Amino acid sequence: MSFNHSHLLNTKQFQKSDLEQIIDFSHDIENHPEKYQDLLKGKILSTLFYEASTRTRISFEAAMIKLGGSVISNPGMVQFSSVSKGETLKDTAKVIGSYCDIMAIRHPEKGSVEEFSKGSDIPTINAGDGIAEHPTQALLDMYTIEKSLGRINNFKIAFVGDLKYGRTVHSLVRLLRRFDNIEFVFVSPEQLKIPHKIAKKTNHRNTFCMNDGIQDVDIIYMTRIQKERFKNKKEYKKFVGVYHLNKTILDTLGDVKVMHPLPRVDELSTDLDNDPRSIYFDQVKNGLYVRMVIISLLLGHKKREKKSSLLCSSPVLD
Ligand code: CP
Repeated sequence: MSFNHSHLLNTKQFQKSDLEQIIDFSHDIENHPEKYQDLLKGKILSTLFYEASTRTRISFEAAMIKLGGSVISNPGMVQFSSVSKGETLKDTAKVIGSYCDIMAIRHPEKGSVEEFSKGSDIPTINAGDGIAEHPTQALLDMYTIEKSLGRINNFKIAFVGDLKYGRTVHSLVRLLRRFDNIEFVFVSPEQLKIPHKIAKKTNHRNTFCMNDGIQDVDIIYMTRIQKERFKNKKEYKKFVGVYHLNKTILDTLGDVKVMHPLPRVDELSTDLDNDPRSIYFDQVKNGLYVRMVIISLLLGHKKREKKSSLLCSSPVLD
């Protein structure tokens, strides 16, 4: 995709080369943040959240500030914007584009951010649209895997939990399909199975049993049951506590990495927090670097290469 002044709406937009560029750029921004500290001086990011968030919103805002830009944040769009008076998504987008340079939107309805982007004259980033996609989470998950395994191919990953409503799973599976020789195990209750259209292009198997699904994998990607997506709360209660990973279980498996997009509820024990195999807080940190990269690329800035050594050769001494 051409990043320059595009919208980032879903993971289908990415070619494999785009993903490799994002990984490479993320390493540079993580290791040399000083190169980018004034990159977006004078630019404004607006974060418009119609749904709750801790990591995504704060990391987008921190990313913009670390790039030298500024932020206008509205974490309570439903209550505190003219949406409450009936303003449409498209009109809202048009208005924000008159004041800001880029925006990140989270909304509970599938397809809503794309609808938003139709009214937007500035790059619009999907920060999560209902049960559909969370593309920037997938990008930070990909970067975390690459850093942790030292590669982004030739591994086996088990996704555990609510794979029907979990948008981070949908986006990450779609994105990992671009890479070679990745085996997937989908561990979920029958009622919360991953949609067939997402799983069908992967080398995968499905199981209900976590103990079976997490054997011989390189990564376990735990997810919570998505309470907010159930219309019937009695139905949700059927799945509470269905899966739980703790240190005792992990110690039977050996060197397997544990990921989770967070927030967690009861599926991931805190006794894993300081275990070197746990990389879920690395995901949190990596979200900052990857979002710095995304904002930069969408505003037309690429990785800054080193200056040519010819320009700083040693003087010739007599
Ligand atoms: N992983 C994630 O999207 O977290 P938040 O809901 O806190 O943004």
